[in-house]
Amino acid sequence: MASNRTFTMIKPDAVKAGHTGAILSKINEGGFRIVAMKKTKLSAEKAGEFYAVHKERPFYQELVDFMSSGPIVAAILEKDNAVEDFRTLIGATNPAEAAPGTIRALYATSIGENAVHGADSNENAAIEGNFHFASTEMF
Ligand code: RTP
Ligand code: MG
Repeated sequence: MASNRTFTMIKPDAVKAGHTGAILSKINEGGFRIVAMKKTKLSAEKAGEFYAVHKERPFYQELVDFMSSGPIVAAILEKDNAVEDFRTLIGATNPAEAAPGTIRALYATSIGENAVHGADSNENAAIEGNFHFASTEMF
C-alpha cells in the first residue's frame, strides 16, 4: 500500500451511538478518498491480534473487550500526508485533550471509548489495511 494511505476504524461506541454517517462526512470534508470500507465485527481474538502492540499495557483487556463489543466500520483512506493529517482530524486519544472540532472532541466519550482509530505510521497503515482487506477490495 502506498504511503499516501491510512487506515481507520469507527469504533463500537460511535457506531452504536449512530455517529457513522457524521464521522464519514468529516472524513470526506477532510479531503480523504475512501479506498476500501466495510461494516464488520471483530472477534475478541481478532481485536487482540490487531492491538497486540498494546499487550503489556494495563488497558489491553479492556481495549480488546471494547473493540469486540459491537460492529465497527473499517476503512482505508487516501490523501497526501494521510497518516499525519488523519491523526490531526481525529484529535488526541483523550477526548478531554482533543482540539475543538476534531472527531474525538465531537464524538468520543472517554480515553478508552474514543470513537475512531487512526494508524500511527505508514508502515502500520499498510499492515492494518491488509489485516482487514484483500487487495481485490481496494479501489
Ligand atoms: P488508536 O490506536 O485507537 O488510534 O488510538 P491512539 O493511537 O490515539 O492511542 P493508543 O495509545 O494507540 O491506544 C490505543 C487505544 O487504547 C485505548 N486506550 N485506553 N484507558 C486508557 O488509559 C487507554 N489508553 C488507551 C483507546 O481506545 C486508544 O485509542
Ligand atoms: Mg494507536
